[in-house]
Amino acid sequence: MLTLGVNIDHVATIRQARRTVEPDPIAAAVLAELAGANGITCHLREDRRHIQDRDLRLLRETVRTHLNLEMAATDEMVAIALEHKPDYVTLVPEKREEVTTEGGLDILGSFERIKQVVEQLQNAQIPVSLFIDADENQIQASANTHAQFIELHTGKYADAPNPIVTHQELEYLKRGCEQAHGLGLRINAGHGLTYQNVYPVACLPKMEELNIGHTIISRAVLVGMERAVREMKLAMRGQL
Ligand code: PXP
Repeated sequence: MLTLGVNIDHVATIRQARRTVEPDPIAAAVLAELAGANGITCHLREDRRHIQDRDLRLLRETVRTHLNLEMAATDEMVAIALEHKPDYVTLVPEKREEVTTEGGLDILGSFERIKQVVEQLQNAQIPVSLFIDADENQIQASANTHAQFIELHTGKYADAPNPIVTHQELEYLKRGCEQAHGLGLRINAGHGLTYQNVYPVACLPKMEELNIGHTIISRAVLVGMERAVREMKLAMRGQL
């Protein structure tokens, strides 16, 4: 069964814009689960720009499906993961200046470090997923780290400028899935997926979980707008 991991980072982004208490990503996670999310994903960034340590602690207590912690392969984050024990960890590259995670991990370029972190986490029974481009060498290197999962970066597919490139990127992802499966890796995917482009990715062979955030939070803001305004009018009349 293909599953959906809902990334709730951007609920925290809105909260952090005012450094206030709402909207609470914990509440968003509960609602996502009630609506059928199979998992909750959050990215605790080094600069804490959206998800905070408090969020991770509370998500660990409240998530009833599974909690996927996206994080950089740093000592600080490994210590946090070992303390909170998410159901799995996705290692992602992280640069301070980027708006969002821009490319896949370079497993080849930092093989020893990634392998060490995979071992540390897996020794604590935390399965590890590596967020990579569907590059043949990166997939092989990922298998060599003994991580259980890869998450294929779908950003280039999502951002393709025309249908020909979209098709090429989809083929690239498909070859990646076949190679990864042949190497015994389990396969997730994510980044930039939308209501319009998700289905072909959902049909890729051996795909297990799609991690989707921005488009769901964006839609939630819009589909919730009318009700939110109506409820404010009620509140102004003391009727809420
Ligand atoms: N997967 C990974 C590894 C990510 O870093 C992100 C973005 O935080 C996502 C999935 C979700 O991407 P989007 O918000 O574009 O759906």
